[in-house]
Amino acid sequence: MSLNPEIDYGTPASEAEKTVTLTIDGTEVTVPEGTSIMRAAMDLGTQIPKLCATDMVESFGSCRLCLVEVEGRNGTPASCTTPVADGMVVKTQTDRLKRLRKGVMELYISEHPLDCLTCSANGDCELQDMAGAVGLRDVRYGYEGARHPNPGIDASNPYFTYEPSKCIVCSRCVRACEEVQGTFALTIANRGFDSVVSPSMEQPFIDSECVSCGACVQACPTATLNEKSVIDIGTPDRAVVTTCAYCGVGCAFRAEMRGDELVRMIPYKDGKANRGHSCVKGRFAYGYANHKDRILNPMIREKITDPWREVSWEEAIQHTAAEFKRIQAKYGKGSIGGITSSRCTNEETFLVQKLIRAGFGNNNVDTCARVCHSPTGYGLKTTFGTSAGTQDFDSVEQSDVILIIGANPTDGHPVFASRMKKRLREGAKLIIVDPRRIDLVRTPHVKADYHLPLKPGTNVAVVTALAHVIVTEGLVNEKFVRERCDWDEFQEWAAFVADPRHSPEEVEKISGVPAETIRGAARLYATGGNGAIYYGLGVTEHSQGSTTVIAIANLAMATGNIGREGVGVNPLRGQNNVQGSCDMGSFPHELPGYRHLSETATLEMFESFWGRPLDAEPGLRIPNMIDAALDGSFKGIYIQGEDILQSDPNTQHMAAGLAAMECVVVQDLFLIETANYAHVFLPGSTFLEKNGTFTNAERRIQMVRKVMAPMNGYEDWEITQMLSNALGFPMHYNHPSEIMDEIAALTPKFAGVSFKKIDELGSVQWPCNDEAPDGTPVMHVDGFVRGKGKFVITEYVATDEKSGPRFPLLLTTGRILTQYNVGAQTRRTANVVWHEEDRLEIHPFDAENRGVRDGDWVKLTSRAGETSLRALITDRVAPGVVYTTFHHPETQANVVTTDFSDWATNCPEYKVTAVQVMPSNGPSEWQEEYEELSKAARRIAEPLVAAE
Ligand code: SF4
Ligand code: SF4
Ligand code: SF4
Ligand code: FES
Repeated sequence: MSLNPEIDYGTPASEAEKTVTLTIDGTEVTVPEGTSIMRAAMDLGTQIPKLCATDMVESFGSCRLCLVEVEGRNGTPASCTTPVADGMVVKTQTDRLKRLRKGVMELYISEHPLDCLTCSANGDCELQDMAGAVGLRDVRYGYEGARHPNPGIDASNPYFTYEPSKCIVCSRCVRACEEVQGTFALTIANRGFDSVVSPSMEQPFIDSECVSCGACVQACPTATLNEKSVIDIGTPDRAVVTTCAYCGVGCAFRAEMRGDELVRMIPYKDGKANRGHSCVKGRFAYGYANHKDRILNPMIREKITDPWREVSWEEAIQHTAAEFKRIQAKYGKGSIGGITSSRCTNEETFLVQKLIRAGFGNNNVDTCARVCHSPTGYGLKTTFGTSAGTQDFDSVEQSDVILIIGANPTDGHPVFASRMKKRLREGAKLIIVDPRRIDLVRTPHVKADYHLPLKPGTNVAVVTALAHVIVTEGLVNEKFVRERCDWDEFQEWAAFVADPRHSPEEVEKISGVPAETIRGAARLYATGGNGAIYYGLGVTEHSQGSTTVIAIANLAMATGNIGREGVGVNPLRGQNNVQGSCDMGSFPHELPGYRHLSETATLEMFESFWGRPLDAEPGLRIPNMIDAALDGSFKGIYIQGEDILQSDPNTQHMAAGLAAMECVVVQDLFLIETANYAHVFLPGSTFLEKNGTFTNAERRIQMVRKVMAPMNGYEDWEITQMLSNALGFPMHYNHPSEIMDEIAALTPKFAGVSFKKIDELGSVQWPCNDEAPDGTPVMHVDGFVRGKGKFVITEYVATDEKSGPRFPLLLTTGRILTQYNVGAQTRRTANVVWHEEDRLEIHPFDAENRGVRDGDWVKLTSRAGETSLRALITDRVAPGVVYTTFHHPETQANVVTTDFSDWATNCPEYKVTAVQVMPSNGPSEWQEEYEELSKAARRIAEPLVAAE
């Protein structure tokens, strides 16, 4: 494999359908109208010298290196800023052009430090390349003149350096920060010779608004902005295209390697989810892969109070199989189960559920989606007929009104947020429904038209009030509803939402959102053109999570905002493969492809394919498994890549359930919190060490490609296969592609999916079958998957979790850009410089009432438990509401969250907990003990044995 860099066409592609034909250096070329001469020449393989142009950003025309001659025109226009025209005749290489370009390069080089041989960009520097391209052999002005300003190197960012003396002031970085990332953190300070790139107000990068996305580093043609990893290791020599293992955006990357060492991750321009952009996690936070905490050898122990004993893979697998068999013989077939991982590949997830259904002989399988997007599955399947978002990410470029409910895209889904911000800067309108003033409410060049800061727990009331306005003010798209939805159900629903108790004026009393704001937002969504809804866990993680998803679907159907580009209902999925883990049959009642176990023909097909009888009874969900463990009927669990102790609600209850089991098997990279209760630890592999596929929030199936050998010896699917074989249910896959072939054979939505097809097309969005051989970017185009769209009544039922005199505040939770979920990966990277601890956001009014100052320790108490953390005083949250993240085990925010859960799916109600906040002196007692307990639970007794 070679490095094979992606071609830089110099300017972005034109979207125009009309084409024009011109002649460049005697050869005709036909390109879309609006294409630059530079890009048209590149289509012919002619690279016009350039410095300030790159196809990441709009052309700027400042360096004057890309000059060309155009027949019939005076002068030498810049090819990057001159659009093509029909019949145009262009020359890119004449004596005059050569002379002019050399002159430009002489000026650049005369003020540039000449330390090429020791420069970190040596061999990967466009300035160097261009000096060669224009044939520069001498500099008439000498090399002794004044140099560009040299205030020293800014190495404050943990991942890249800024060395102003090497800057050629091409402004590519400034434009990348503005156009691609949308953060506007950079500017060109000073004038003329003293011009210099400046983060914010001439601050070090670390103190500026920079969010460390790296777009500027990627855009920089010199070593001025350079990855520290390149400085340390050297330039890469080969690249493998793979998919980010963090969030549900699913950014594609070129993993650039030198030998077996990962040098850097470069967002892949052909990645259809990210279009060449990334966030700080995907681009930089991969250091956990070889962190010293990684466990590389299997371990077992008799009791959870014993130290771990390192054993061979053979012993670990045989021991696990023997334990599971013993437990089933003693307590019954249903006494064991497993949890699949949304961090693992589709193929790995499929194998785990197959092992449980066919090998364990029960359906006790569940996944972390239980605690995040299970209501999405229920709500969208009920209304539209399929459990997934309706659009691709490109669709947002056609949206006129964007409605965000309970999601914080700039932190949770940053690359999609950048694409969204671009559309908003182009003029799309924005409505935000969120208790917190998230960044998108006001960020450079973006301002929400409406922010509905509702009281946590009142989503259903507010979304139904939006529907009330749409119905009572005659804003329903009746044509759409009559053609596409069940008209009788619509009428029933319309009568329900039109009831005065759902009016904005009544709902203001419950939600705290001014009636006029609700009315304005409803009118804008219904009448503003293409309306797209994006939502997140702020919708699903409620006792009425499924009801809100249904209410959102009702809203989209009533306004006809379904079935074309620019509209739709789009859950922003949390983990990289949460969509895939649900698709692959991770729920106890559904086989892969969301087919209920009661579908006899489907069950029989699986039985015949797998050669085993399958149980038609749905198995246990995660909370039921824990309850059953406490009842004494559930004794063993196989947990692949999921830290249920930290991520699931009511930590003490979870810990007691795990402690009551006889064989807890954890397969993971690190000794995660759940492993404190494990008897067997099977070391897992990172996404860099395996082949397979992930499915992102757009239903896009993308390749994960192995860039290095697994440090533990095996990919995760191989470990599951070994366990299955030891249990007497043989599996003989040689490669994950064979697992995907089985998925395709058993699952109509995936019938056309294969590794070969994904390789050919780059990615595939399901459904992919005979009707849609290349996949389905937008769903429900000619009709809903279920036939007629179904309107469902959404009665608001207040959660039982109520604030009152003892617990007067409402806690809601979320995450931050630089950390990822329970933090097992990101806490083991340099990202900790931005977020060392979870903080409690509290409004100044509530803080003052309690005598709490910024940075003080506070005790957070709920009906379920208490924890302590430090306060962050901010008016981002309204009075009466507090907020925290859940990235650090020392805080364990889920100690205070309750057992309340979604009525339909058991998804925990993380977003509403009644709490009290009081000053405290420091960490709670249990937190102080926690570190000691964890240390004890992680003791390893025996010396290392070599990984097989
Ligand atoms: S890293 Fe990203 S946010 Fe920071 S300055 Fe560069 S482009 Fe802007
Ligand atoms: S830092 Fe790099 S990209 Fe930015 S102006 Fe200087 S040379 Fe150009
Ligand atoms: S946006 Fe998500 S998928 Fe993309 S780089 Fe960041 S974490 Fe990875
Ligand atoms: S590349 Fe065209 S002016 Fe710089």
